[in-house]
Amino acid sequence: MKHDPIGAMPAYDVLIIGAGLAGQRAAIAAAKTGATVAILSKVHPVRSHSVAAAGGINAAINPTDDWRSHAYDTIKGSDFLGDQDAIEIMCREAPAEVMWLEHAGVTFHRNEKGEMDLRAFGGASMKRTAYVADITGQALLHVLYEQLMKNHEVIDRFEEWFVTSLIVSEEGECVGAVAREIRSGKIETFAAKSVILASGGAGQCFSPTTNALICTGDGIAQAYQAGAPLMDMEMIQYHPTTLAENGFLITEGARGEGAHLLNSEGERFMEKYAPNKMELASRDVVSRAEQTEILEGRGVGPDKQGIYLDITVVPRKRTLEALREIVNIGKDFAGVDITREPIVIQPGMHYIMGGVKTDIHGATPLPGLYAAGEVACVSVHGGNRLGANSLLDTLIFGRRSGEHAAERALAMNMPTVSDEQLGKDREMIAEILARPKTGRRVSEIKQELGTTMNRYAAVYRDEAGLQSAHEIIRRLKEEAKTAYVDDKGAVFNQDVLGAVELDYMLDCSEAIVVASLERKESRGAQFRTDFPERNDAEWLKHIDVSRNGGDEPKISYSDVTITDWQPEARTY
Ligand code: FUM
Repeated sequence: MKHDPIGAMPAYDVLIIGAGLAGQRAAIAAAKTGATVAILSKVHPVRSHSVAAAGGINAAINPTDDWRSHAYDTIKGSDFLGDQDAIEIMCREAPAEVMWLEHAGVTFHRNEKGEMDLRAFGGASMKRTAYVADITGQALLHVLYEQLMKNHEVIDRFEEWFVTSLIVSEEGECVGAVAREIRSGKIETFAAKSVILASGGAGQCFSPTTNALICTGDGIAQAYQAGAPLMDMEMIQYHPTTLAENGFLITEGARGEGAHLLNSEGERFMEKYAPNKMELASRDVVSRAEQTEILEGRGVGPDKQGIYLDITVVPRKRTLEALREIVNIGKDFAGVDITREPIVIQPGMHYIMGGVKTDIHGATPLPGLYAAGEVACVSVHGGNRLGANSLLDTLIFGRRSGEHAAERALAMNMPTVSDEQLGKDREMIAEILARPKTGRRVSEIKQELGTTMNRYAAVYRDEAGLQSAHEIIRRLKEEAKTAYVDDKGAVFNQDVLGAVELDYMLDCSEAIVVASLERKESRGAQFRTDFPERNDAEWLKHIDVSRNGGDEPKISYSDVTITDWQPEARTY
């Protein structure tokens, strides 16, 4: 242990919750700054969801590129809701971060001249996506994990530990967390001077989704419950190419390599919606175009709810080399050889642009609490994230929050931390285990939540649908209080943790729906059919959602930071 415990309680300068790319990058940066660090994760770190950002990472590396061009594309992609000071930082620091990764051992694809190759991605004005075939997130995750292990003398790893609560002191500061070891059922308090949430997004609120089963909004809900505000929660990204069968991601790298989207009439319909960028318009634009084609009767597949993605136009050799993962997915999950025939895809829930509100250092308004990666909202993605900006966001703001959380910690004494929250969380787990069999099953409630969100909070939304979703969520919240779990044991009891995750998802979903109802305009990923225009005069602002000490979410607003780029009409 690299810390001075308080009695039997482990205590660290910096406690990091989540060990995907943001968490691991934060841990390495905090340790380098001189802090004692613990990193906790409910799964083994290399199984984190960062693997899903398959296609690459954006950085203005090409000598003819410029970080300002990357920043402008990102701001336009965000439909001018992104905070431009944060976007400038992310894009300016991107090339050095990618070089740092390469020096750490990431085998980025190289071109015939031996230079780092860059592929095209949506919404970008030039090729600026560095990649490792179509497993970029996975490649990065493994290299960072090597770095984490290399730093084992200064970073303690708690793998397969599930956080049940953040601890807030009487002075109103975040001073640690309570977590349960999944293997044994042991529950402990971890004291910390600074806590960084890096536990990812909330995709499992929707069904289907590209997100892993672990993406249950834990950190978003924990911060919300602890009193930190959420921001941009209405902005949910539907990725244009998810497998019609089951929602699996088919990387945007396919369109980057030249694949076409076709409707039932064989038309490259993007010509109508984005004549300049075609299939490589920003994701919100492409997903809406696909959904419009489907709604107007030009869908494909058995239920006409899909669109063809035609990868056969990409040379076969290149597909086998640069898109090999989706070659396997096509074969294994749709029975299709994507090098020889089109595959049926549809827009599917992929990412939440919103999350725990932070500043450019990753600090939340709750002192001592930081957030980075998908759990956070800096906001660099605003209304719509560009593909390949998520890996970048995790690394830049993971590093920055690690450094700042460590600097804060090194300048203070260890706070006094009580075991009060530990007692409450033990009681909560005991109460779930003791529930009679009369309640609904956790999995049933989760499924109803997912289909509700996918029906009413998807590509197209309106007041009546969102109100219905809110009513259903309120009912599901009541039903979740008595939801039954089968497993009553202590060892690897994922069932009881599923009940805790369900509460997290319900809080996240309510925040998403309430914010979507509040924004009475269409911007980025939020398209309100009852308010189809963007309305800068009234809605060029962030929507913040707080728990307000009670059960009803409270709405407030914050300004969008504009530096050099004034809002303008957005066309591709
Ligand atoms: O399509 C993709 O490869 C996903 C990348 C991302 O979400 O950044």
